[in-house]
Amino acid sequence: PWSDLQVLDRVESTNAVLSADPRPWRVVIANFQTAGRGRLDRQWQAPEGTSIALSASMPLPADTARWGWVPLLVGVAVRRALRRLTQLDVGLKWPNDVLICTASGSWRKVGGILCEAVAGATPMVVIGIGLNVWQKEQELPSDAATSLFLNGVCVDRETLIVQILNELVEVENAWHTTVLDNEYRNSCVTVGQFVKVSSAQAGDVNGVAVDIDELGRLVLDQDGERVPHSVGDIVHVR
Ligand code: BTN
Repeated sequence: PWSDLQVLDRVESTNAVLSADPRPWRVVIANFQTAGRGRLDRQWQAPEGTSIALSASMPLPADTARWGWVPLLVGVAVRRALRRLTQLDVGLKWPNDVLICTASGSWRKVGGILCEAVAGATPMVVIGIGLNVWQKEQELPSDAATSLFLNGVCVDRETLIVQILNELVEVENAWHTTVLDNEYRNSCVTVGQFVKVSSAQAGDVNGVAVDIDELGRLVLDQDGERVPHSVGDIVHVR
């Protein structure tokens, strides 16, 4: 279904390019972003040529109750692509960080997903995927980040991009159904962990993450009470 694929050398943000001209099934890839956007107004930076910066526009599911699942299922697509092309153990941190298990046994962030809904006659989502491919230690933003290269994986960006785009189509075919939800739940490293959630409404709360509910929210056990938290909230693992 991809109808328009643009490869740019340098751009502010691939998500911004697609949001400015919203039509479904477009893809924009950049070699370098000068103002890459992360979730929660953060920045997303990577030295030129080291990472994948990809945005893709797709129609949203007709059932609006499924919209909360969209970013999570994009994570499933990225995880599937990495699993198919590498031997890595890939986990998803709710809502949509892509982690890999390093040789020392710790989970580190290798990619991030930023989904932005675009209103219109056909509601659409711009999906932004950033993936650390070739960065060396000193080229990463923090100790919590890693790259494929640093974990012994040398796959060219084109191969990864093609696989991710194929997996996105698979996921889109099924995202009005619930078949992928359990794949997300099983890949989600947040479930089972003791976390602090910072929410705009409720401030900071602590609990054990026990599930992802039917709206894609993270459910915490807070002193015996099951409380769902939405995608805008920040999760800190304790
Ligand atoms: C996050 O972890 O906070 C999400 C990061 C998303 C980064 C990607 S890179 C391609 C696309 N364009 C952007 O400006 N951001 C996303």
